[in-house]
Amino acid sequence: MAEYTLVADKTGELRMDAAAKDARYAELAAQIESTLAGEPDLTAAMASVACLLHNGMPYYFWTGFYRRVGPRRLLVGPYQGTLGCLDIDFARGVCGAAATRRETIIVEDVHAFPGHIACDSASASEIVVPVLDARGELIAVLDVDSTLPAAFDETDRRWLERIVGLLADKQAMPVVWSGEGEG
Ligand code: SME
Repeated sequence: MAEYTLVADKTGELRMDAAAKDARYAELAAQIESTLAGEPDLTAAMASVACLLHNGMPYYFWTGFYRRVGPRRLLVGPYQGTLGCLDIDFARGVCGAAATRRETIIVEDVHAFPGHIACDSASASEIVVPVLDARGELIAVLDVDSTLPAAFDETDRRWLERIVGLLADKQAMPVVWSGEGEG
């Protein structure tokens, strides 16, 4: 059984130095990989990733997925944090920009990003990472917000890109049951 620590208290020291961040991501990536192993369902996987990252990282304030539900439309998926906006067109916000460019975007100051969507005014900085399926199609973005300015850097990018890579082989599983137990 894997040993790990969940940090749920976000009122203490939030900022981590590079070495501490790297070490924590290494633990979390291993934990996420073992949690997702053998689970084919995309929603279950996204929910587990959002939970483990959010509770494992003290400077994360909002952590979750926007799923691609149309050619240029994102809809909120599994997340942790305060209420997120539901619909995001590819033309809007950091999420839309990352989806359009299919590349990770790090925003040190969200108030300086043209078109930033402020779901919660407490957010100060943000990273958005594209999620691709096994064919390389964009299926979602992972959005993480922090109340700290410039909270995200290349260490976050490297680990989060690796972690969302674990979703590439997951699929929306059909809801089926035999009918037993009804009534
Ligand atoms: N800030 C994002 C929108 C999503 S929320 O922050 C949860 C954006 O500008 O795309």
